[in-house]
Amino acid sequence: MNPQELMQRKANATPRGVGVMCSFFAERAKNAEIWDTEGKRYIDFAGGIGVLNTGHLHDKVQAAVAEQLNKFSHTCYQVVPYELYIDVAEQLNKLAPIPGENKTAFYTTGAEAVENAVKIARAATGRPGIIAFGGGFHGRTLMGMALTGKVAPYKIGFGPFPSDVYHALFPNPLHGVSIEESLHSIEKLFKYDIEASRVAAIIFEPVQGEGGFYQAPAEWVRGLRALCDAHGILMIADEVQAGFARTGKFFAMEHYDVAPDLLTMAKSMAGGFPISAVVGRASVMDAPAPGGLGGTYAGSPLALAAAKAVISAIQEEKLLERANKLGAQLKETLHGLKAEVPQIADVRGPGAMIAVEFNKAGSHDADADFAKKVQTKALESGLILLICGVYGNVVRFLFPLTIEDEIFEEALQKLVAAIKA
Ligand SMILES: Cc1ncc(COP(=O)(O)O)c(C=O)c1O
Repeated sequence: MNPQELMQRKANATPRGVGVMCSFFAERAKNAEIWDTEGKRYIDFAGGIGVLNTGHLHDKVQAAVAEQLNKFSHTCYQVVPYELYIDVAEQLNKLAPIPGENKTAFYTTGAEAVENAVKIARAATGRPGIIAFGGGFHGRTLMGMALTGKVAPYKIGFGPFPSDVYHALFPNPLHGVSIEESLHSIEKLFKYDIEASRVAAIIFEPVQGEGGFYQAPAEWVRGLRALCDAHGILMIADEVQAGFARTGKFFAMEHYDVAPDLLTMAKSMAGGFPISAVVGRASVMDAPAPGGLGGTYAGSPLALAAAKAVISAIQEEKLLERANKLGAQLKETLHGLKAEVPQIADVRGPGAMIAVEFNKAGSHDADADFAKKVQTKALESGLILLICGVYGNVVRFLFPLTIEDEIFEEALQKLVAAIKA
């Protein structure tokens, strides 16, 4: 069936709320390439929104899932357990940058991991309040939306949201918020909205994803940790987008010299198979009573097999080094365009979690149109790019770290042409 006919069927059969970026339909994919139903090839710099750090259908992931599929696909871990769950939990307990004894619980989506991190923090502290940040994104469930600091399009028409969630300012010097102002905005919440002794947790993204790929400054994270320690508040690092090698470290919190109490992860954890996790200090993770955590599909054996293969691919194929190498190459290319393209306001990001922000030439006003045009031009030439940022003026790059060198080069040429056009 041709794409136009499929689009018509889509419009008739599915709600417009499920917004769709591309007007072609996927037929098959391998590593960093997707082919549509018409046979046209695209280079995938979106990775299904940060899910494919190890690419489409990595050989090891495909083999591990096929092997598991021949054994069993589902028992529900809470009914009949399996070793894979414990295997991957043990690995993540070691890999997570949280000192001491850790424990891991698995879920299915990023939002579900965030929801459960909040449940665990509340159970461990006996307190209700949660502080999140402007520009943060934590998912589309009711608590996920409550925590998210971006109204359009995520929250419009969906309230009321769970109570006792408060937003402070995320430090963002480019947009006029200093580290001091951000930390001060938390102190203000303690004065205006909720006493510190009723706050269970502060949740933040070490690198804001949907919000625009802004990395939390080290001094700020240290300040946040000090605030948490002073008031008995737990720190939750949401690494759903930044984790699993994207930033050139296994977890983004490894860029800092302080540790969170709980860490959420999903997306690139299993190369496209739906799974998420909360890893945290054992004493905190053990707060909820038996039966309080879990879910029918939580810790699917197929996704766990994929996750195990992803962890070994990251390690064996040295994908942390590769993230840093490819990220540096991309940054250099973008910096090289600055003289010619005055709309480039900033090029940033750790490892391969890179973004370019566009402002109107010669001003500080966000230029969402420019970002959109770059995305459209790139797509016409066969390169899939994603936009992010509170003002919609940021192009972010989430290519597979396993991308072949020549395909990466080809993509950079398409990107340069799209920006120049
Ligand atoms: C930091 C962060 N947290 C949570 C989520 C929600 O994850 P999911 O869409 O898998 O529910 C996302 C998704 O983009 C995210 O980037």
